[in-house]
Amino acid sequence: MKERALVLGASGKVGEGVASSLVAEGWQVSGAARFSKPEKADRLRDKGIEPLVYDVTSGDPALLPEVDAVFLEIWDPSRPDLIWPINFYGVGRVVERYAGRANFVNGCTINVYGERPDAPDEDAPCRPNTDYGRSRYSQERLIDYFCHRSGSKAIHVRYAHANTADSGIIRRMAETIVRGESLGANPDAKMRVIGMEDFVRVTVNAWQRVANPPVAVNCCGVRVWTQRELAEAIHARLGRGQVVFDRDAGGEEHSVQADPGRMVSWFGEPAVAQETLIDRVVATIDGGHTQDD
Ligand SMILES: NC(=O)c1ccc[n+]([C@@H]2O[C@H](COP(=O)([O-])OP(=O)(O)OC[C@H]3O[C@@H](n4cnc5c(N)ncnc54)[C@H](OP(=O)(O)O)[C@@H]3O)[C@@H](O)[C@H]2O)c1
Repeated sequence: MKERALVLGASGKVGEGVASSLVAEGWQVSGAARFSKPEKADRLRDKGIEPLVYDVTSGDPALLPEVDAVFLEIWDPSRPDLIWPINFYGVGRVVERYAGRANFVNGCTINVYGERPDAPDEDAPCRPNTDYGRSRYSQERLIDYFCHRSGSKAIHVRYAHANTADSGIIRRMAETIVRGESLGANPDAKMRVIGMEDFVRVTVNAWQRVANPPVAVNCCGVRVWTQRELAEAIHARLGRGQVVFDRDAGGEEHSVQADPGRMVSWFGEPAVAQETLIDRVVATIDGGHTQDD
């Protein structure tokens, strides 16, 4: 029998990729989101994904379909006022509805670790220092609680900086460099970048690793860049614009990055090369695209 999945956030970049990959693997997939861009529902339908209009801040979880797997791929960075209603209360109600009936792949974030100069692995203590990071760490703990209570299994995929030609930190930096504006105050802050394709691949494969108690895996690039190094590499390929920071040096203590060792050992190296991530942004930067994050 076909396995059934619910992808919450299926109109988003990771969610649509995950839902499409699951369909290609033979899963029966429902894709829930607010569908604030309604045309995305037709796009999902065309790909064999059943769209469900569902807002976690107001929807009734009882109306969601019975499934074997729940992939959580939601956030709304444009609504800081909804950080807790979405990430904690809203996702929590969905997880409670499926506890004991389905297993969970939770698309999370390395912001759970907080800012620090080193690269924490998954066993490092989480010390989130932003409200957003705290809400996502609380979300992980809530999922762990429901798994403990019900026997469900879960994995937290802690993402950092996915990129496409149109979206992500490389695109944002490239547009800022072209405008000659400041890239901020932390040229020495460390970071890692990865392709959206690798986020999707790791997330789909993470289903094989759900566990009780739940486990975590970082999902990020292998190469460490400082912000200035990445900006200079983008600038060199652009051949125009200017790399400007508010100060010449500093900001390492504001690094948000993580150790990709477990990801590489479980799922292999990222497939998309770092140069490709930059080149495909540069190739489209004059094409009139706008960032859609
Ligand atoms: N992309 C990255 O580099 C990155 C980095 C770290 C972590 N992550 C994590 O990865 C996950 C997916 O990110 P993404 O890049 O795919 O984001 P995205 O493209 O902005 O998609 C977000 C999704 O969440 C849905 N959503 C937002 N609020 C909702 C609500 N109240 N009820 C139901 N659905 C809601 C959106 O649906 P509508 O717009 O249709 O309402 C959309 O489908 C998130 O948890 C994010 O924190 C991503």
